[in-house]
Amino acid sequence: MKKGQFIVVEGIEGAGKSSAISVIEQVLSKHNIKFINTREPGGTPLAESLREIVKSADHDEILTEETELLLMYASRSQLLTNRILPALEKGIWVIGDRHDLSSRAYQGGGRGFDDELMDTIAKVTMKDFTPQLTLYLDISPELGLSRAQARGELDRIELEKIEFFHRVRNKYLEIALADDNIKIVDASEPMISVHENIRQNVETFLSRL
Ligand SMILES: Nc1ncnc2c1ncn2[C@@H]1O[C@H](COP(=O)(O)OP(=O)(O)O)[C@@H](O)[C@H]1O
Ligand SMILES: [Mg+2]
Repeated sequence: MKKGQFIVVEGIEGAGKSSAISVIEQVLSKHNIKFINTREPGGTPLAESLREIVKSADHDEILTEETELLLMYASRSQLLTNRILPALEKGIWVIGDRHDLSSRAYQGGGRGFDDELMDTIAKVTMKDFTPQLTLYLDISPELGLSRAQARGELDRIELEKIEFFHRVRNKYLEIALADDNIKIVDASEPMISVHENIRQNVETFLSRL
């Protein structure tokens, strides 16, 4: 049996990841491809507990940047080993709401952990595993956060200052521009054009398999 493929959707809060994922689901279903969904941090019972810790804005003590970094990778290790890899082995595709690129952008770009350190932790966690296709939804932090705010309460990371999200976006763009497996989608466009762009990217990916 052919192995499954791992498609990831990335972008800052409010970029439109959740609705992009439903478009990918439609395309895969049309092609009779079986898939599961994951989200990061989280996606297994243990990883979801780590998500709670990392996202909660009301701890009695400060969550250090180092703890945040390590919890993200701890969560990713659980998810990769216990859900993503077993699914792909069985020929089931995986649609990820965030993956390693988020850590590169948030903990790397946003918090300032350097590339070499990020490479090392990623290597320990994932060996050479990498998604086959990543759709990065690019949007200005101002627009993204205003959409996210309209959606509901902001979590611990979403409460960061706007400069933090500018660093996150810059890192996303820097990495995306250097990697052929990452497609940049202009997420500031109206939903209908964003969705058409995503549909085309996924169809093109499918046609090249
Ligand atoms: N292209 C778009 N134009 C306008 N609003 C959008 C667009 N894409 C998403 N939204 C809205 O913005 C909000 C955040 O989108 P969502 O998919 O939840 O983002 P994310 O999952 O990336 O945080 C939702 O209310 C969604 O309906
Ligand atoms: Mg979402």
